[in-house]
Amino acid sequence: MSLKAEIAKRKTFGIVSHPDAGKTTLTEKLLLFGGAIQEAGAVKSNKIKKHATSDFMEIEKQRGISVATSVMAFEYRDKQINILDTPGHKDFAEDTYRTLTAVDSVIVVIDVAKGVEEQTERLVEVCRMRKTPIIVFINKLDREGKDGFDLLDEVEEKLGIKVTPLSWPVGMGSQFQGVYNLYEKNLLLFSPHSKDLEEGIKITNIDDNLLDKKVGDRAANQLREDLEIVTQVYPDLDRDAYLNGEISPVFFGSAINNFGVRELLDCFVDIAPGPLPRMTEERLVRPEEEAFSGFVFKIHANMDPKHRDRIAFLRVVSGTFQRNTNYRSMRLNKMIKFSNPTAFMASKKSVIDEAFPGDIVGLYDSGNFKIGDSLSEGETLIFKGIPSFSPEQFRFVNNTDPLKTKQLNKGLDQLMDEGVAQLFTKVDNGRKIIGTVGALQFDVIQYRLKHEYGASCDYEPVNLHKACWVSCNDPKALQEFISRRKRDLAYDIDEKLVFLAESAWTLKMAQENHPEVKFHFTSEF
Ligand code: G4P
Repeated sequence: MSLKAEIAKRKTFGIVSHPDAGKTTLTEKLLLFGGAIQEAGAVKSNKIKKHATSDFMEIEKQRGISVATSVMAFEYRDKQINILDTPGHKDFAEDTYRTLTAVDSVIVVIDVAKGVEEQTERLVEVCRMRKTPIIVFINKLDREGKDGFDLLDEVEEKLGIKVTPLSWPVGMGSQFQGVYNLYEKNLLLFSPHSKDLEEGIKITNIDDNLLDKKVGDRAANQLREDLEIVTQVYPDLDRDAYLNGEISPVFFGSAINNFGVRELLDCFVDIAPGPLPRMTEERLVRPEEEAFSGFVFKIHANMDPKHRDRIAFLRVVSGTFQRNTNYRSMRLNKMIKFSNPTAFMASKKSVIDEAFPGDIVGLYDSGNFKIGDSLSEGETLIFKGIPSFSPEQFRFVNNTDPLKTKQLNKGLDQLMDEGVAQLFTKVDNGRKIIGTVGALQFDVIQYRLKHEYGASCDYEPVNLHKACWVSCNDPKALQEFISRRKRDLAYDIDEKLVFLAESAWTLKMAQENHPEVKFHFTSEF
């Protein structure tokens, strides 16, 4: 197959949701449709239960499972669909943000009873920033939940996206009878726990008596009323607007009952974008370019101390990636080749000879890679949009076993390369501060340092509100800023200067007192 045909075949997306909305269940149903798995229960939830804040076994389990389910590929209607898993736990939000850089679109799952929840808001904000096309799936219609119109209002308001429903529920909870598919103009009747998918009854004209016969007069009239409002209030789906992230189609259904999932998948296959171009510091790279390029968005360490290798997840952006071929790592400026590149089909891994734009390849790595690394055939291309985010929790890290200083430093460096947390070294006294998005990472780091590197550390509280990257065009002003604010400054692992603000007020004062200095909330500016 030509490169063009391979590109046209692929769709790479992620499912995002607040924990418990039904992401795992939906993923599983999609894989069932694609024949990638044969039975329910094959995809394990990778969520960390709420009580497990310091349950290391749970963390280990989560890590083990999430390698297997990091990418799940399946075929459906002649397309190869790559689903990238995103951790739902908020302490792993940064992992999710980075995974979102490797997808071309997302499906957002919302629980009909809970509506838009906090984690969904944060994740969709990242999608909006990147103009990622979004399809919304409102799940658990077999349970009592919020009114459809209220929910759509909530989605528009809280997620800041415009929506247009492409399906509409007939009743809800115990009264749930099915969904009317506005996209294909047919009615799908619900039967709980049905193994086969209902074929759907074609009703092109909703005034058709068949509707009353199937769902009863009351429900039929309610549906007619609802659909009248839908057509008045919501615009028709404009694919270009969807592709620009300006409008999101909405589907209703029940993932666990396999209901409304096929409609979602069919529409996804019809409208979702294929592999998109990506911006580098140098230029825009298009998938159809012959020369291979790609970037690493995730690194996963092997928890088994006997096998210290890691898997770097590479998103292919352009050209054809080939096994045993030398590619240039921009950061290391050296050629590397891979003898066992891996692809993921559902939970199976297999060595591949080639991969195409949109694909995710697992590269075995002995410590070369860092999140955000770019690879190419030779041309200098540094992919943008894989920033570190300003962390929210901080602690001093102390070495508690001086004989293992080397191991501690190596362990910390590698964990930071994996993007577990960020390490800042203070300008005034060289003390190290770890910054994370969530508290759980501190436990993960301590545990992994001990088990993988044989190093011990403990933490000391540090009173910090935010870490912001700083830049300044005027070298003199920068020098003055550094000498005046030495005790509030640190370097990150890329030697970028970071301002550690004790409070929102300190940050505001620093901004006012040093107008020439710019403060940034992500490492990429
Ligand atoms: P997550 O990955 O987004 O965290 O959610 P997950 O799929 O694990 O689903 C969370 C819970 O919601 C699960 O129940 C799941 O069975 C249930 N669920 C998913 N889809 C539907 C649906 O359409 N209707 C109803 N009523 N429930 C749904 P659990 O009790 O937490 O787990 P389990 O014991 O069933 O696995």
